[in-house]
Amino acid sequence: SYSKEKYKIGFSQCTSADMWRKAMHREMIIELAFHPDLELTIKDAGDSNRNQISDIQEFLNEGIDLLIVSPNESDPVTPIVEEVFNSGIPVIVIDRNISSDAYTAYIGSDNYLIGKEAGSYAAKLLEGRGTIIEIRGLDGSSPAIDRSNGFRTSLQNYPDIEIVTSPSGKWNYSDSKVVMQNMIDENIDFDLVFAHNDVMAIAAHEICKKNQVSNKFFLGIDGLYGKDGGTEAVIEGKLNATFLYRTGGEEAIQIAHKILNGLPFDRENILETVVIDSNNAKILKLQTEQVQNLQGKIESQNDILDRQISKFNDQRTLLIVVLFL
Ligand code: FRU
Repeated sequence: SYSKEKYKIGFSQCTSADMWRKAMHREMIIELAFHPDLELTIKDAGDSNRNQISDIQEFLNEGIDLLIVSPNESDPVTPIVEEVFNSGIPVIVIDRNISSDAYTAYIGSDNYLIGKEAGSYAAKLLEGRGTIIEIRGLDGSSPAIDRSNGFRTSLQNYPDIEIVTSPSGKWNYSDSKVVMQNMIDENIDFDLVFAHNDVMAIAAHEICKKNQVSNKFFLGIDGLYGKDGGTEAVIEGKLNATFLYRTGGEEAIQIAHKILNGLPFDRENILETVVIDSNNAKILKLQTEQVQNLQGKIESQNDILDRQISKFNDQRTLLIVVLFL
C-alpha cells in the first residue's frame, strides 16, 4: 500500500574503491528500480575492519530492517554481525564471508572451486612442470583463504609444479606492483603468476613488462567487463585467463526483498563461474556490450515514460482546473 514506509537496508561494504565493487553497486541500483518498497544506504569501510565495525554499529543505532555485509576480513567483523543477527535483524552476507553461521542468507561464488579450477588451468599451461608465484588477497578475507586452498589442492596432483612464494597483494594494484617488483629484484624464478584477482594480476604483468621479463603466464580472477577489466586484459593478451567472479549485487536485492516480504528464499546462493580465456573473451565482450546497450535503452525509456506520466498529470490538473472554471 502507498502509506507503508520503506524498508531500510543498510549495506556495509568493505571497500568501494575498485571496479568490482562499483559494478556490484550498479547492479544493486538497477535491481532496486523494481522494488520501490526498499531503500538502500551504503557505508564504505575503506578497507578497514575498524571502520566496518563502527559502520555496522551506526546502522544498528540508526535502525535498519536488514543488513547486507561484505566483511573486509572475516574474524574481526564477525562479532558485530552476530550482534545484528542475534538482535533479530536479517543479515545477508555477500562475497566475503564471516567466520560463523550467524546470517540469514549468503550470496557468492564458490571460491575454493575457483581456486581449484585456476590450479588445473595453470597445470595445463605449464604442461605439468614449472614454478608459480601466487599473489594472494588480503590475509584474513575468506576468498583469499578459499582460493589459495583450492589452488593448492589441485596442484597436489602435479609433483613437478612448485609454488615458490605467495606474498599478499592485499587485493589492490599498488601493493601488488611493489610485491612483484620485489620478487623480480630478488631474482625469483617463475613461469606463471596466479593472482587472486585481476587487478593484482594486471599489476604483476605491468611490472614484468617494465622489467623486460617476458614469456610468463598470468592468471587472475573476476573477469569484469570494460576498460581495465579482466576480460579486456585477456583480449589484449595481458592475462592468459581469468575466472568470472560475479558480484551478486542483483541477487542481494532480490533476496532482501524476499526476506522482508516473508517470501521463500534460499539460504545459500552460490553463483556460477566460468573460465574466460582467448576462446571466449571476445564473444563475452560482444554479448555484454549488447546487454549494456539494452540496459541503457531501458533506462532512457524509463526517463521518457516518467516525463510522459508527469506531462499527463499536468494535463489532468489543467483539465480539472478548466472544468471548474
Ligand atoms: C574487490 C575484490 C575482488 C575480489 C573480491 C574478493 O574488492 O578484491 O577483486 O574478487 O574483492 O572479495
